[in-house]
Amino acid sequence: MTSNSERIIIFDTTLRDGEQSPGAALNIDEKLAIAKQLARLGVDVIEAGFAFTSPGDFEAVSRIAQTVGTENGPVICSLARAKKDDIKAAAEAIKPAAKSRIHTFLATSDIHLKYKLRKTREEVLSIAEEMVAYAKSFTDDIEFSPEDAGRSDPEFLYQVLERVIAAGATTVNIPDTVGYITPSEFGALIKGIKDNVPNIDKAIISVHGHNDLGLAVANFLEAVKNGARQLECTINGIGERAGNAALEELVMALHVRRQYFNPFLGRAVDSEAGLTNIDTQQIYKTSRLVSNLTGMLVQPNKAIVGTNAFAHESGIHQDGVLKNKLTYEIMDAESIGLTENQIVLGKLSGRNAVRTRLRELGFELSENDLNKAFIRFKEVADKKKEITDWDLEALVNDEIQQAPDLFKLELVQVSCGSNASPTATVTLRNPQGEELTDAAIGTGPVDAVYKAINRVVNVPNKLIEFSVQSVTAGIDAIGEVTIRLKYEDKIYSGRSANTDIIVASAQAYVNALNRLYGALLNKQKQQVTA
Ligand code: KIV
Ligand code: ZN
Repeated sequence: MTSNSERIIIFDTTLRDGEQSPGAALNIDEKLAIAKQLARLGVDVIEAGFAFTSPGDFEAVSRIAQTVGTENGPVICSLARAKKDDIKAAAEAIKPAAKSRIHTFLATSDIHLKYKLRKTREEVLSIAEEMVAYAKSFTDDIEFSPEDAGRSDPEFLYQVLERVIAAGATTVNIPDTVGYITPSEFGALIKGIKDNVPNIDKAIISVHGHNDLGLAVANFLEAVKNGARQLECTINGIGERAGNAALEELVMALHVRRQYFNPFLGRAVDSEAGLTNIDTQQIYKTSRLVSNLTGMLVQPNKAIVGTNAFAHESGIHQDGVLKNKLTYEIMDAESIGLTENQIVLGKLSGRNAVRTRLRELGFELSENDLNKAFIRFKEVADKKKEITDWDLEALVNDEIQQAPDLFKLELVQVSCGSNASPTATVTLRNPQGEELTDAAIGTGPVDAVYKAINRVVNVPNKLIEFSVQSVTAGIDAIGEVTIRLKYEDKIYSGRSANTDIIVASAQAYVNALNRLYGALLNKQKQQVTA
């Protein structure tokens, strides 16, 4: 990718930094589904993972490189520490992509040098230079990140950047790793880099930042004004701790306020050309997919993609919007793909109609997945007269989400009411294929179901989040249940959608338990082979 002062490069790290959110772990098929949607969204670079960290991560990066890394698709990138083995694994994993990048990093702040790396500045300078040159022997497109740049001595940072660019880095990424910096400081840091790194014209300046003080997006916009041309971000702002800068907020800020930003990119104020390559109409769908598959719910008042982002509650506002939308709206819900929910299908709709509508919604399913989705569609259509686009999406996302199929929920039955003790009976098939039935009493129907499931599965855990959301309005709406549970220091999520929220609750819990159980089995296997 060459230097491009006319457009902002969107580097999506949902599958790497985003997946570092507690409980957001995704399996390979889920990562692939997200990567495909990111390509439809139009991101320029997908950071598909950290290939060296595990065989699963390696395979995910490699499969994404093969499937999504086409000639016209995004650049596929893997993260690597500034170490030979890491870089070699990254290079191997991204090889199948038509356009590939290695992103290597090494900390430059004195705090990290002293306590984490135990290295001198001189040592860091030469490792960074040497490892960038090593990465360059595998591919031309090399990104280097001086980790904790936000707290690094700028003079030392300039030296590191000059050396890595000379060694072949084509992008230098400036991370505010701990979310500490403020917008004007970040702008000044980028300007300082432009003014003081003699060979900076040979690389693109990128920014990466965390949201610990809620400043990541504001920081990035200030960085753009001062010369940053690549933004590293995640869908819904998920990521380590308080998360990363949110892609949808950055893209829509640059889109809605393009007249303000145009001159900073050397354009005429009134230029209508997009500042990014993002197809904004794919934003809402991408947000829903990531939320569904990671189990990380979007807060209702979240900018751009929250359920309240386009809702007007006050009478004065509603009156104004009815008279003219411009009174209280700075952007159309349609611009992020949030169309008026049309009723499209019903009980009599055939397989072809479902396939066609799913295609229109951007889902290219294999025959097998289509068959599964169609069976679910028929089940729901029997209970619910009108199947909307959102219902369809919820059902398909349910099919794409593949927690390991270890325990299978065969039956759930509950009796409850104002004068009864909620009692649940469940039947599950265990990984050995045996059918096991048990029953329990709880404080409510869901509690009873979970206690009964626990008696069968018998894996200790602590339920830390249970949430039900309705996909559409109406008494017959599909309910989406999201579960997060904790075992030792790890969080596992599960999700399910059904018109019966007790069934959805049971399935979501089994999905989360399957992830936990799968992780325990993997750990056991590793211990045996070690
Ligand atoms: O936050 C950070 O510093 C990172 C780097 C690896 C870019 O995620
Ligand atoms: Zn980060």
